[in-house]
Amino acid sequence: MKDLNGTSPEALCALALEARRRSYSPYSGFKVGAALLCGSGKVYTGCNIENAAYSPTVCAERVAFFKAVSEGESDFTAIAIAGGAGNSPDSECPPCGVCRQVMAEFCDPDTFKVYLAKSSTEYTPLTLKELLPFGFGKVNL
Ligand code: THU
Repeated sequence: MKDLNGTSPEALCALALEARRRSYSPYSGFKVGAALLCGSGKVYTGCNIENAAYSPTVCAERVAFFKAVSEGESDFTAIAIAGGAGNSPDSECPPCGVCRQVMAEFCDPDTFKVYLAKSSTEYTPLTLKELLPFGFGKVNL
């Protein structure tokens, strides 16, 4: 966790790329890093962590979210995601459906920003609502 008030999208993307270097992905070879900015100004990072039994694998985004939630965070501003098969990502890595659903549990769909990073200066900004329109949530229960 890093304490970075006023973190820019570029800085968040750089932290996602740094976290990607810690990816444990011997089975897919697909390395993903994520950096989650909280309203508190703190940033929690995550990388994908694979497993020989395959299904225990956890995505980088969920690692970042679960680290933050377990530390008491409940207000989220943005996440940067960097993923790809090579040493540096040559294309954007959109979050999987399960990770979008986890984001929807904790984030405002209209204001929570998702940056799909190719590098610290090249990224696509999206809102959670763009990634998960008409999602299922607590209001539906
Ligand atoms: N992966 C992530 O970490 N985040 C995503 O949003 C997409 C997929 C990981 C899971 C697995 O370790 C590898 O990428 C290939 O699917």
